[in-house]
Amino acid sequence: MSSDHLVPSRSRRSFLTLSAAASAAIALRMVGEPMLARAARHPKLQQQGVMIDANENPLGPCAAAREAAASMVPQGGRYCDWLTDDLVKQLAQTEGLKPEYIRVSDGSTPPLHHAVAAYTSPQRPYVTADPGYEAGMFTAAAVNARVIKVPLAKDYAHDVRAMLAAAPDAGFFYICNPNNPTGTVTSHSDLEYLVANKPKGSIVLVDEAYIHFSDAVSALDLVKADKDILVLRTFSKIYGMAGLRCGAIFGRPDLFEKIETYGGWNFMPITAMIAATASLKDAQLIPERKRINAEVRGRVFAWLDSNGYRYIPSQTNHFMLDVKRPAKEVIDAMAGQNVHIGRIWPVWPTCTRITVGTAPEMEQFQAALKKVMTGAVTARVSTGDRERKGLRAELPVRA
Ligand SMILES: Cc1ncc(COP(=O)(O)O)c(C=O)c1O
Repeated sequence: MSSDHLVPSRSRRSFLTLSAAASAAIALRMVGEPMLARAARHPKLQQQGVMIDANENPLGPCAAAREAAASMVPQGGRYCDWLTDDLVKQLAQTEGLKPEYIRVSDGSTPPLHHAVAAYTSPQRPYVTADPGYEAGMFTAAAVNARVIKVPLAKDYAHDVRAMLAAAPDAGFFYICNPNNPTGTVTSHSDLEYLVANKPKGSIVLVDEAYIHFSDAVSALDLVKADKDILVLRTFSKIYGMAGLRCGAIFGRPDLFEKIETYGGWNFMPITAMIAATASLKDAQLIPERKRINAEVRGRVFAWLDSNGYRYIPSQTNHFMLDVKRPAKEVIDAMAGQNVHIGRIWPVWPTCTRITVGTAPEMEQFQAALKKVMTGAVTARVSTGDRERKGLRAELPVRA
């Protein structure tokens, strides 16, 4: 274990010196995938059956990560901040970046939330795809920024030209690559175009939560080129560490200074830090899990094709299925079969997102879907909705 203390001293200090604006912003609720998935689920059915509604990885952490995390439990009475330094150092080596261009966090939700709070305002809108990952919209709405949703292009990539045209005064462009919920990819040349043509003072954030499942080209080269861009990564997806909580944000140090005003560096869970470092050192993890996911997904798509069901071809661990009726009916009927799918994006009310689980889980999914779609079973339970959990189903959107 090194004790290089690579987390810069400025960020160590910043959590002690919040401005008044930051103190207000930091009190905002952070909405993320688990909250959104939970809000759409029947409360009594939360831990039963096939859970393919939150884009989790059923494989969990790799063997080395499990061993590393278990070995840290006896040290749980200590903060062990050098483990964070070790992770930053490992990420720097893996991605070819300087350590000062990297911050790690307990999941990628906090830096997303803080970045949106830092770069949006009533004068600087938040621009995102529709359908797209919703988390940042909640933060933007909370700071009274306009939320501008721009439909995906015909090939389900982000329509970066339409996003630019929609908001000449934008403060923040959120790009999820590959996209949640569609699992579709936006080209690197489109990202370059967006960064080159965005309004002055704005930021582009590329959320690469699912990139390792896909052939998408990372935007980290634009970080290395010192552009106005932030790249977000998480250990919750291919690394299977959603419950352990670890994420990272990459960007120029001066961009971090602005973000950290809204939520500075804090001590990280030591089991997550050491497990993430061990995961990065496992050279087989990404290719092997990418292959497993692609194989299971390919089999599901072949089955959907042979049964005449329509879906959007995805490169990730989730995809959109068009059930050609209000998707809520199908989600509820599937829950009655102990298969939990979801959720729905208001722009496509007949579609629902499906997470790719294990091969046996997807066989259960297929059997249940067939029964539901042929009318052999109907809804026996009513799943939740965002209002019930206090999450607004629709955010204030002014295009
Ligand atoms: C696109 C996207 N970004 C970020 C996250 C946040 O994940 P976490 O906070 O677990 O790192 C998720 C979770 O599903 C996601 O789908």
